[in-house]
Amino acid sequence: MTIESDKDTHPAAGWAGVGSCWHPVAFAADVTDSPVPATLLGEPLVVWRDSAGSAHAMTDVCIHRGTALSLGCVVGDEIVCPYHGWLYDEASACTLIPQLDSPRRVPPKARVSAFACTERHGLIWVCLAEPRWGLPEIPELQSASWRAVGCGPYAWATDASRQLENFTDFGHFPWVHPGLLGDPDRPVVPRHEVRTQGHVLHYSIVRPEAPNTDDFPVFGNEQAGPPERRSRYELHLPYTIALRLGWGGDRAMVYFFASQPLAADRCAGYVVIGRNYNLGQPGEVIQEFEDTIFGQDQRVVESQRPERVPFDLAAELHLKFDAVAVAYRKAMRSLGLAANDVPRPIK
Ligand code: FES
Ligand SMILES: [Fe+2]
Repeated sequence: MTIESDKDTHPAAGWAGVGSCWHPVAFAADVTDSPVPATLLGEPLVVWRDSAGSAHAMTDVCIHRGTALSLGCVVGDEIVCPYHGWLYDEASACTLIPQLDSPRRVPPKARVSAFACTERHGLIWVCLAEPRWGLPEIPELQSASWRAVGCGPYAWATDASRQLENFTDFGHFPWVHPGLLGDPDRPVVPRHEVRTQGHVLHYSIVRPEAPNTDDFPVFGNEQAGPPERRSRYELHLPYTIALRLGWGGDRAMVYFFASQPLAADRCAGYVVIGRNYNLGQPGEVIQEFEDTIFGQDQRVVESQRPERVPFDLAAELHLKFDAVAVAYRKAMRSLGLAANDVPRPIK
């Protein structure tokens, strides 16, 4: 018989400091009046809203017989297990056991684990431990003169670090997204430098890009001369990026990206795109564009081995234009976020 230690059974065991970070688990619009199942770092979660609309996250395993609470329903400010009707409140304590003579005399052990849960930038975020850092501020997404569209989630069979890294990778644009994000005749990656401040990497790049296509007229690059995109990145460790795009005029776009670490070999990428132009354009145009881009990336990134970014710099070959990948690996290591052991599988 194997006795598991606390370390092995604690949520996020095997994930180093990643368990103390906020991660997206759902689009806020997808969590309505029914409980929603989610997975984070191998932990099955139920996400639900109380009568005031506040979101809550707890273990999706009823203490009684292990039933998924996400199959139940919400009544007022409590969630009802679908099997025997036990009630749990927002603090995840069981408050009522219908089978008892005194249903409200509930044993103290009748509770499940509750986790920090908040709503921001159109997403529901969960942290399985005490949050180490706050969520990024994106004032544009709160502005009345901007419009935001959610894309995804893009579920990939790889670790969140690979999906994140793909979002930072400049060298692949002409090869993986020719005509959409890159020009095969201009493969050289422009010079860029990375400044690491705490858990945030800052870097900018100005690079040529393919013009808008008739199929996907999503960008704001209508100026004379060759199309150029100015991109300013904030990479919030471990798996979140705020990218601000400009084309030299008033038009601006924000790409907000966060990858949900489901398991060591599974993740889901959420994209929220804000723009201060083309406000009347249907959201489907940008969603179809992102579906295309992420589809092109998926087959390449899912083929990468190992599935998780190797945080040891000696494990791969890095050249000068891989500056972001190098800075990412160094920062993840120095902040204790570089989990290289294999997390437990999804239950
Ligand atoms: S399994 Fe949840 S109440 Fe019995
Ligand atoms: Fe890509």
